[in-house]
Amino acid sequence: MTVYERVRPLLFRLPAETAHGAIHGVLRRIGGTPIESVLGARYAVTDPRLRVETLGTVFPNPVGVAAGFDKNGEIPGVLASLGFGFVEVGGVTADRQAGNPRPRLFRLPEDRALINRMGFNNDGADAVGARLARTTVEVPLGINIGKSKSASPADAPADYRYSYERVAESGGFFVVNVSSPNTPGLRALQKSEALRRIVAGLREAGADPLLVKLSPDLTEPAVEDVLDIVEEFDLDGVIATNTTTARPESLRSPDRVETGGLSGKPIEARATRRVRFVAERVRSEVTVIGVGGVFTAADAYRKLRAGADLVQLYTGLVYRGPAVARDINEGLLALLERDGFDSAAEAVGADLDRAASEG
Ligand SMILES: Cc1cc2nc3c(=O)[nH]c(=O)nc-3n(C[C@H](O)[C@H](O)[C@H](O)COP(=O)(O)O)c2cc1C
Repeated sequence: MTVYERVRPLLFRLPAETAHGAIHGVLRRIGGTPIESVLGARYAVTDPRLRVETLGTVFPNPVGVAAGFDKNGEIPGVLASLGFGFVEVGGVTADRQAGNPRPRLFRLPEDRALINRMGFNNDGADAVGARLARTTVEVPLGINIGKSKSASPADAPADYRYSYERVAESGGFFVVNVSSPNTPGLRALQKSEALRRIVAGLREAGADPLLVKLSPDLTEPAVEDVLDIVEEFDLDGVIATNTTTARPESLRSPDRVETGGLSGKPIEARATRRVRFVAERVRSEVTVIGVGGVFTAADAYRKLRAGADLVQLYTGLVYRGPAVARDINEGLLALLERDGFDSAAEAVGADLDRAASEG
C-alpha cells in the first residue's frame, strides 16, 4: 500500500475543497525547498522515448496537469517535480473572483469522478501574472484564460486580452477556455462569431502558441465550426475536453445530483472519442491535448493512439495521488515496448493510421 493509499481515506473524510486546500498547502510549502529535488528524484521518469516536441518546445514526457488544479499559479514547480511533463495553470480571469459559494466541489468515489462548480475562483490576472513572473519552471507552462463573470459577451474579447497581456511573459502556451460550465453564458462563446472575436484579439496581442479548449457537450457540427476557426487563425492546438454537464446513467454516487461539471472516469471514453474526432480533422501541425478520465498508463495510451500529442489529468491526481505521473510514464514505456513503438510520439494517432489504412 502506498503512503497516499493510506492517507486518502483521511483526506476523503474532509469536504473535497478542504482536502484540496490541504494538499495544495503542503505542496506550496515544499515549493523552492530541497524537498522539491527529493520529489524529482523519486517521481521523474527521464527517458528520451517519452519526450514530445510540439508547440515549439520540448516536453520531457506527455503527461501534464490539467487546468484548475493550480488556478493561481502557485505550485507549477512542485507539480513538475512530481514528474509531470507540463503544467497548465489557471483558469485566470481579468477580475479577481471569489467563485461560487461553497460547497462547490464534490467527490463521487463510487464513480471515480468529481463534480465541480467552482466558477473561476482566482486571484485575477494581475496577481497571477506577477506571481508567475517570479517563477521558474523546468517544464513547459500553459496558462488557461477564462472570462470574468462581470464581462458581457460583447466585452469578452477585451476581457480575455487583458488577462493574456498580464501573463504573456510567463506562458509557454496559452489556452482560450470557453468551455467551463460554471460561468453563465461562457460556453455560448464557442459559437463561431464570438470565438472568432476573442481569438482575433488574442492573436493581435501576440498570443502564441494559442490553443482552444473544447466542451465535450458540443455537437460534432459545433466542433467543426470551432475547427474552422482553428484553421482560419492558424491556431496551434486544441484541448479535448473540459468537464460535462451530462450525467451518465451509470453514476452511482449520491452527489451525482449536484450541479456542475463532471470529470474523471465517466468522461474518459467520451473525451477520447472527441480527441479522435478532432485529430481526424486537423492538420498534423495542430497539437491535440487529450484530457478527461486519465488515471492509468492504459488510459493515457488510448488517448495518444486516438491522436493526442499530449495528455493531461486532474481527477486522476485526486484519486491516485502524487505518484500518478510516474506510474503513467513507466506504464507508457512498457506499452510502447510491447507494441514496438520507439517513442510516445510514434504512437500518436496509431489507431487513426490503422483505421485509414484499413479503410
Ligand atoms: C475542480 C476543477 C476545476 C477546474 N477548473 C478548470 C479551469 O479553471 N479551466 C479549465 O479549462 N478547466 C478546468 N477544469 C477541467 C479540467 O482541466 C479537465 O478538463 C477536466 O477535469 C477533465 O479531466 P479529468 O477527468 O482528468 O479531471 C477543472 C476541473 C476540476 C475538477
